[in-house]
Parts: sequence; structure tokens; C-alpha cells
Amino acid sequence: MMNLEISPQFLSGNPPHGVYSRSWSRINPRWPSRSRAHNRKICVYWKGETDTRKRPEFPICRCQRPDRVADLRIESTNGPSFREAGEKSSLTEEGEEDLLGAGSFSRTTQNKNKVQSLEDEAWRLLKQSVVYYCGNPIGTIAANDPSDTSVLNYDQVFIRDFIPSGVTFLLKGEYDIVRNFILHTLQLQSWEKTVDCHSPGQGLMPASFKVRSISLDGDESSSEEVLDPDFGESAIGRVAPVDSGLWWIMLLRAYGKVSGDLSVQERIDVQTGIKMILKLCLTDGFDMFPTLLVTDGSCMIDRRMGIHGHPLEIQALFYSALLCAREMLAPEDGSADLIRALNNRLIALSFHIREYYWVDMKKLNEIYRYKTEEYSYDAINKFNIYPDQISPWLMDWMPNNGGYLIGNLQPAHMDFRFFSLGNLWSVVSNLATPAQSHAILDLIDAKWADLVGDMPFKICYPALDGQEWAIITGSDPKNTPWSYHNGGSWPTLLWQLTVACIKMGRGDMAARAVEVAEQRIAQDKWPEYYDTKRGRFIGKQARFYQTWSIAGYLAAKLLLANPTAATMFVVHEDAELLNAMNNVRLTPSPRRKRGSSKPPQKTSYIV
Ligand code: GLC
Repeated sequence: MMNLEISPQFLSGNPPHGVYSRSWSRINPRWPSRSRAHNRKICVYWKGETDTRKRPEFPICRCQRPDRVADLRIESTNGPSFREAGEKSSLTEEGEEDLLGAGSFSRTTQNKNKVQSLEDEAWRLLKQSVVYYCGNPIGTIAANDPSDTSVLNYDQVFIRDFIPSGVTFLLKGEYDIVRNFILHTLQLQSWEKTVDCHSPGQGLMPASFKVRSISLDGDESSSEEVLDPDFGESAIGRVAPVDSGLWWIMLLRAYGKVSGDLSVQERIDVQTGIKMILKLCLTDGFDMFPTLLVTDGSCMIDRRMGIHGHPLEIQALFYSALLCAREMLAPEDGSADLIRALNNRLIALSFHIREYYWVDMKKLNEIYRYKTEEYSYDAINKFNIYPDQISPWLMDWMPNNGGYLIGNLQPAHMDFRFFSLGNLWSVVSNLATPAQSHAILDLIDAKWADLVGDMPFKICYPALDGQEWAIITGSDPKNTPWSYHNGGSWPTLLWQLTVACIKMGRGDMAARAVEVAEQRIAQDKWPEYYDTKRGRFIGKQARFYQTWSIAGYLAAKLLLANPTAATMFVVHEDAELLNAMNNVRLTPSPRRKRGSSKPPQKTSYIV
């Protein structure tokens, strides 16, 4: 094994201060709090449920809705512009033209009108998907197809699904719904939850929630609305949604960036919420790696697909959330330990992913020639990968230009599948280096037919087939080859592709993908996903009027029209962090004696 060393001055901090007491209570006079006992009581009482989507007495949204997005207050961003950070990017006001590329958008008036009506339809549908709680908009329903009689849990507000909705509302100047969403989901975080007598960690955010209307004790004529969260205790597979809290942190920062209202992130209860999520993620376990260890299906792919362990998607979201939290956490004595742990994790995580998850032609050839069974600190093949693991498809598929981050890394196992969300978010979050980020986009360009095809964007490539499908998915009939999570195409990923492309100054690529989607997405009734290798068919069990397909498209359009707004998700590593990252060096691990009286000069991380 090799050790990763970090300069000691970066690791300074105060002694523990008991920030994380389980009994920590949220105190905020501005936000009326429900007692947990009260929540629990009404949670189990579901009588008199009504459809909270249809509330004619309340307007769709009560806040102002400027038509232009130019009023966005992103000038309040603190970090340096992408140019200052040395990226090849056009994310500056004057750079908008470079980004879109002269002529790349030339459209006939007829085409313009068609696109405009598509955007109008999407906006109308998005507003119709808004869910209200006590008269206030607090989220969007997952799918809103009135003709669908079997809604399962698609009538709930999913945390991850709301993100593109939130982005769209922010870009349209409708801040209230996002603020309400952030504060109400925060309340659900402290919910006392159990699955068969076991209580998961307190910082866990639910996968989704539903607004239920219940009649008050003994009185049929009056009712009360309650929020009923699902932490995975009723979800298919009973999986904890690790990504929810990470997305919540990122949306919180984006809200502050776009609205200019920093008072939300400064609130005591919100600060506590951030710390609870971090505590859950940064808790010591048996891990040897800095990546977050999770079960299968703990993110967008929320059923068995062989992504247990250290899936890229979670690592990219984790990295992004750590950076966002670092920026928002109020400096106080009690946070010093947490901030130190967070900084250390950022450094170790970025090193680990950039070094060990990266594959391109050169790296693949190295793996192809790996020696195995190396026992030493300075092994080249640290994870004992057997070269035969390189799947035949990859030998052909890997382009000469470009590369990507693999899906997962475990002892003696590299999951070489290309997972889109993880790769795109690694670009957005800087988890990938600038060179790697460009190479990821180069690969997408080179593999356009496979990843964009007839409908952007492939969730992962390639699909699991035959015995592999049977063993890895458990013969899941929903995840058959080239369907749903197993190589299906998901329009919602358009907005993430767009943020990544804009960040790297290649918005024209995202615009091309959007144009592909525009050919049929509305005609097809905004499906949840598409099937087949090229995404030609509407998914076997896809929902229609899936909100994050609608919002993903709209968010992509709004971001392309106003590329500077993509800064809401981009966090620049400051000089201190960059310096520490540059100081990371690999050295053979010296065997230190236990209980040695001398304090170590460097803090070591096994990578
Ligand atoms: C499916 C998706 C999940 C999404 C949910 C609601 O379960 O796998 O990512 O959040 O539907 O749309």
C-alpha cells in the first residue's frame, strides 16, 4: 500500500466540541417546528387523503415571475470566474457568444416558433406538477399523467427529481418554491424513522415525501395536511437514498447564489442540517478508501444494478456537496473538527478518483499489462485487478481521444461501465481534472451515437446482458438490456450534460443534444426514459409527463440561454485547497510504531 501525505498546516483545527449530539434540537424562531411526536402520530393516520395537486383555491405559485432571466443575481458569486481559474471556458457575460458558437444556433423562424411552443408547454406542465403544503408551493410531483391509474410512488415529491425543477424555478426568478422545499425537507431530516426496529442515521434525507390530508380527530369536516416522508422504508428494495442529502446541500447553495438570499443557509437549523448530513458521510467506518461506501441502488439508479461499494455517482455528488458545505458552513469553534475532516476528505477523494478511476487508451493498456498478486507498499496494481477483466467491448469502444471515470472500484474489480451522471458531475464539481473533464466530453463527442443516439442521454453504457444481467440485477424484468437503468436513455440527464458542457466552454455540444431531444420529446409526452441501444422506443414501463424530463429539458434551455447561471453549481477550490491538493505526494508508507511519543509530521491516508 502507498500512503498519501498532506501538509500539516492544512489539517489544523480545534478539539472536538460535541457538535453532533443526537439530541441536538433545531431552534429557529422563524420556522414553526412540529414536534416529532406529533409528526409520528399523524404519519400513521392516513384517512381522508385528498389529491393535494388540485387546489384551485391556491394560485400555481404566489411569487413574482419575471419573464426574463437576466435579473438573476449571480454577480454575487464569490469564486473566481472560470477564466481566472484557468479553465477553457466562456462562462463570463461577454463570453456567451464564444460558448454558443456563431451559427450553431441558426434556426428558421418556423423552427424558432416550434421550439418556443415546446418551451411554453414544458413550463406549463412544470407549473402543473407543483405540490402545495398549507397553501405554499413546496415541490413537484414525480410524474403527472392524469390517465395513469397505477401511480405507485410517482405521486410523491422526490428530492433528486426536484433538482432540475428547482434549477428551472430559480432561473425563472421563482425562488419561494425552492426555499420552501429546502426548509420543509430539512424538517423531515430529523424524523424518527425505523425499518424493522433499526434506526438509520439521523442526518438521512428522505428519497421522497407526500403531502397527505388527514381529518382531525373525530371531525370529518376538517382536515390537516401533513408531510409523509419515505426514507427507503417503503421504497422498492428498502434502500437508503444517500444522494438526497448531497443534492439538498447543492440546491441550498444554488438557491443562495441565484436568489442572493443567504439568510436561509445562515439559519441555525439549516447549519445543523448541513452538519448532520456531513456527519453521516464522514463517520469513520471500516473503509480503507476515501470514497463513500454505499449499498446498491442508493442514488438515481435505485434498484439492484451492481453499483454497491463505491459508485462514481455517489462520489461525484459527495465531492460536490463537500465543496458546497465548506463554502456555506459558518466558521465557529465547534465546527473546526468537522471542517478539518471535510478538507482532508476532499483532498483524499479527489486524488483517489483522479488516479484510480480514470481510464483512457494509455491507462487501459497499462491495466492490460498489469502484473498481479503484488504484495508491497509500492505495488502498481494496487487493487489486484486481473487484466482479463477488461471487457472485450471496451477494447473496441475506447476512443483514441478521450477517456472517462469508471463506474466503481473494489478489490480485484473495476466496473468499466460508463455511468453518465457520475462522469458529468465529476466535470461539474472539479472532481475530474480539467484535462480529464475535456477528455470526458471528447469521449461523449466520439461516442455520440451510443450516448445520445435518438434521445439523450444514456444512463450507462453498455447494458448488462445474458448471465451477467441475471446475476447482477437478480433477473430484474424492469432492468432488461437497454431498458430503464440498464442502458436506458433518460432525458433528465440533459441538464447535467448542459452544466458540464458550459463549464468546459463547450455549450454547443449540449445544444446539439437538446436539439435531438426536441425532435420528439413533447410528441412522446415527456417520457421518463427510452429503451433500445439508440433510445428509439419510449421505455417499456416509462411514465408519461415525467417532471424531471420536462424540467431537465427546460433547465438545459435556460442555462444555454444564460450560461453564466451555471455557476450556481460550480464551486471553485480556493487557493488553500488547491495548494494542499498539489502537495499530495505518494510515498511508501513508513511503518509507524503504535503509541510513538513523537507526533507525526504528516497526516497519512491509505489510498
Ligand atoms: C425511479 C428512478 C429514480 C427516480 C424515481 C422517481 O425510481 O430510478 O431515480 O427518482 O423513479 O422519478
